[in-house]
Amino acid sequence: MKPKVFIGRPVSKEVEAYIAKHCEYRIWDKKEPIPPEVLLEEAKKAEGLLVQKSAITEDFLAQASHLKVISNTAVGYDSFDLEAMEKYGVIGTHTPFVLDETVADLVFALMLSAARRIPELNNYVKQGDWNGETQAEELFGTDVHHTTLGIVGMGRIGEKIARRAVFGFNMKVMYNATTPKPQLEETYGMVYSDLDSLLEQSDFVVLIVPLTASTRKLIGAEQFKRMKSNAILINAARGAVVDEQALIEALQTGEIRGAALDVFEKEPTSPDNPLLKMDQVVVVPHIGSATAKTREAMVMKAAENLVAGVTGGVPENVVKE
Ligand code: DGY
Repeated sequence: MKPKVFIGRPVSKEVEAYIAKHCEYRIWDKKEPIPPEVLLEEAKKAEGLLVQKSAITEDFLAQASHLKVISNTAVGYDSFDLEAMEKYGVIGTHTPFVLDETVADLVFALMLSAARRIPELNNYVKQGDWNGETQAEELFGTDVHHTTLGIVGMGRIGEKIARRAVFGFNMKVMYNATTPKPQLEETYGMVYSDLDSLLEQSDFVVLIVPLTASTRKLIGAEQFKRMKSNAILINAARGAVVDEQALIEALQTGEIRGAALDVFEKEPTSPDNPLLKMDQVVVVPHIGSATAKTREAMVMKAAENLVAGVTGGVPENVVKE
């Protein structure tokens, strides 16, 4: 008998066919996210779940006693209560590697957009404000090439960002991570730095750390005070890595020049969020990995992890604390 799984989000025909080959399955194929109570009812009958960042809590696990594996379609797994998963003997998996280059591209898109004020200037032209030989100083941006980039987090994606920065933009790269990476330093000529010095010296600060107890609100009022007044913060990690209220104040008081955000403390962010009213802030709706090719690769990877977890194999991408 095939193991029973539940697919908690729409997937392509190819992914569905792959899962169907190995499992008996039910699927949530609507566009809107699955309501938590529906996911729980399905989880009670399943040995495996494929989810899109759904919150997996102790209470959830206590009610879904057949579960063996929960496969997340994302590299981040802050939606998992890992301690509770260990207690209930449920494996969690994620989708690293396949999205690294795509997220690094988005980081550069954000950095360049904020530095060269692309959204503002896009509106300027489209609103018909471009009349005459406008080379007014108020339209000028700031350079990215030959500046200093501070990368907070030097995992797989951090490395891809460093490569673009060093070889594409001649940037000096400083990085902060839990441990120094001598081999990467040699390859990219970058330097390990404590967080304070990185913040003090960088023109651009990119956050690309997982959200954990030690990175929650890593960047707050004290850290903004350390940053250069011309600095631009790029957050492609998780919203909660930044104290959002402190960011709003740092931008209002000119403590930093601007910000480019893929992620927010609460998602979707409220239309009333003051950050959305600021010209010096570029925003996108958590789309770091969102190209068609990469998203399909992530879902297929999640399906492979799911199938391995319910058929006695070892999933390739088990998450660790
Ligand atoms: C991830 O995979 O964790 C990214 O945030 C998805 O966009």
